[in-house]
Amino acid sequence: MGKDVIVACDFSSAEQVFSFLDRFTDKKPFVKIGMELYYAEGPAIVREIKARGHKIFLDLKLHDIPNTVKKAMAVLSRLDVDICNLHAAGTTAMIQGALEGLTRPDGTRPLLIAVTQLTSTDQESMERDLLIHEPIDEVVMHYAETARNAGLDGVVCSPLEAGKVHDRCGREFLTVTPGVRFADGDAGDQKRVMTPAAAREIGSDYIVVGRPITAAADPVAAYNRCVAEFVD
Ligand code: C5P
Repeated sequence: MGKDVIVACDFSSAEQVFSFLDRFTDKKPFVKIGMELYYAEGPAIVREIKARGHKIFLDLKLHDIPNTVKKAMAVLSRLDVDICNLHAAGTTAMIQGALEGLTRPDGTRPLLIAVTQLTSTDQESMERDLLIHEPIDEVVMHYAETARNAGLDGVVCSPLEAGKVHDRCGREFLTVTPGVRFADGDAGDQKRVMTPAAAREIGSDYIVVGRPITAAADPVAAYNRCVAEFVD
């Protein structure tokens, strides 16, 4: 898979997501389904969006004991998604269990990427609540290397970290980056943002874009603008 724009479909019902996706009559965007939509509608929503011809990043961020994650991933592999994810904090045994569970009998599997430290975690909360005292940038890079060494395909990270992740983990290791805003857009609650063009320059493989597309007056035009800046 090459560079692409993934649209974060952060809706709470099938009705809302379908009225949004119905606007796209030409190109079918790569869609991210997160916890909100998945927990509201269940696995049927994944099958329905897939049947409409979209690629899917199922963003459920698994984190549990290796056996539980392995079995859960085996169920997700049957949903035929293109990318799914887990927390690197689950450590190598959990990551390896996830890969085993996700691999289908024919040897194929969806791409599997890791969340490192959530971008909502800062140095202070990491030290206070998790007792991790290394600099947070170094923790993120270490988690990325752990994920790569365990056999994962990439990480979710800030576009500001994508270049460094590629330096440490190799150009082939995927960086999937949220926190993208148009130069003339509203950052909302995202603190550290980058334009699609800047994310492309720094080497992001996929950008995840939600509200700049879903809340736009013309979502199809906003999506096309993202593609023009990031991919074309
Ligand atoms: O609307 P917005 O473009 O901010 O949406 C970004 C999407 O990426 C949301 O689904 C959000 O949960 C997700 N995300 C993020 N930052 C992370 C990880 C995921 O914004 N570090």
